[in-house]
Parts: sequence; structure tokens; C-alpha cells
Amino acid sequence: MAFVDDALEASMRTGAVKLHAAEAFEGMRRAGQLAAECLDMLVPEVRPGVVTEDLDRLAREFVLDAGALPACLFYKGYGHTLCISPNHVVCHGIPGPRTLREGDIVNIDVTVIVDGWHGDTSRMYGVGEVSARARRLVDVTYEALAQGLAAVKPGAGVGDIGAAIQAYVEAQRCSVVRDFCGHGVGRVFHDAPNILHYGRAGTGPVLKPGMFFTIEPMVNLGKHQVKLLADGWTAVTRDKSLSAQCEHTVGVTETGVEVFTASPAGLFKPPIAG
Ligand code: MF3
Ligand code: CO
Ligand code: CO
Repeated sequence: MAFVDDALEASMRTGAVKLHAAEAFEGMRRAGQLAAECLDMLVPEVRPGVVTEDLDRLAREFVLDAGALPACLFYKGYGHTLCISPNHVVCHGIPGPRTLREGDIVNIDVTVIVDGWHGDTSRMYGVGEVSARARRLVDVTYEALAQGLAAVKPGAGVGDIGAAIQAYVEAQRCSVVRDFCGHGVGRVFHDAPNILHYGRAGTGPVLKPGMFFTIEPMVNLGKHQVKLLADGWTAVTRDKSLSAQCEHTVGVTETGVEVFTASPAGLFKPPIAG
């Protein structure tokens, strides 16, 4: 459970963006690394025939064994460690009895709490051999995140991040999901500011050293519209087109950006066989 003191609660009400000091960066490095290690651990587990709730159990045990907490367990009644979102599922897919099949592309999203700090990251996994168009979507999505990261520096606006992502994605004839965004993060899971993955350069709060947030673009091969399934969580593309996502937790530094959730094994972009 995240520790929320009065100052934090006040900032959530007012939308003020917190500025963190050096010890907070240390905390976020530990949380980010564990989250990335959890996704690294899952790389060989994502195979044709794997049941998504078994992946969730592996992740829960991994996080608890490390002495950390899965942030999504009991978050607003969610009840799982991972979100697992295959194919046309945009985000917040719920682990269950579903089996992953050859050719699926799937996003796995994990958030861990280490000493009160949240590390939030997601990546795409290919199940066996994947079609060329699915691989292209995954590549566009990773590059979209890279474009967003490149826009992060003191003095830039939050809107510069979304503008960079949108310009790149639309030039690739894909679309950016509008209904979900990145978020401030730290001792609070979802905090100010909202990080939209589309928008206008030069708008939004000004980035300052010590701000922590996620960038987590969702990119569709078809149109951007999504709909929510009856379970209240699972978001899917309205036109049933394929969707991909990836997410890093970052901090603004004096000179640019620090990525807290980089893969220690260099696996952030898991190989997707074609
Ligand atoms: N990890 C997601 C994010 O990137 C949040 C999932 S909330 C849950 O913000 F409850 F669905 F798990
Ligand atoms: Co997030
Ligand atoms: Co996440």
C-alpha cells in the first residue's frame, strides 16, 4: 500500500506537480529496476499455450519474493499483479484462463512498490512467430516512446511529449489512443500531471528537474477510438484493429531525462520473431 501523507494528498487535490530530491531518485531507481526485472523474467515464459493467469502468478511471486508489493493488487478493486493485453486489447487486460496463441502480440504491464516508491513499466511480447504488420506496429510503438523520451528536458512543456509522439505515429499511418494517458508517479501511483500522448508543442505544465512521470503510448493500426468491456477494465479498439503499448517511468534531470525502468538485461525490446 502506498504511504500517503498530508502533503501528498494536498498535491493530488490541487494538481500541483511534485519536485523530488536526490534520495527520491534513488528510491525510483530501485523500484524501476525491479519492475524491469519482472518483465525480463517473463520473456521466456511468454510462449504459445501459456495461460495468462499463470504469468500473473509468476509475476506476483517474483515481486513478493523480492520484498516488494504489486501495486495493482487491490488497486481500485483490480486484484491482479499484471495487466495482460493481447492483440486488439488496448490496455488493462485482466489475467485469466485465456491461452496465448502463436502469432499473438501482447502487452504486459507491471507496477511494483519498493520502500513506498512506484516503478511502472510495460512492453510488447511476441508469441512465437508474428506477422510483419504486427511487428511493424510494435516497432512504431517503441519508436513513439523514444520520440516522447527525447522531448523530456527542463523548460520543455508536457505538451511537447505528446506532440512528438503524435507527429511520429501519424506519419507512420497509425493512430494514438486518446482515452488513456501517462501520469505523475512516485510515492503515489497515479498523480499529477497527466501525460497525454497527443497534443500541441509548447503547451501544458513546464518540465522541471525532479518531476517523475510515466510515458506509455498506446498505438493502433486502425482508428484511435476504444471501448470498455463489461468487466469495467478491459479496453479494446472499437474497430478491432491491433493495438500496442510500451511504458517507462522517468525522472526529469538537470540536463534531460533518466529512465528508471530500463531493462538491466537490455531486453526492453524483446525479440519478436517474424
Ligand atoms: N500500470 C497501469 C498504468 O500504467 C495501471 C494499471 S491499474 C490496474 O498506469 F488496476 F488496472 F492495474
Ligand atoms: Co502507468
Ligand atoms: Co503501467
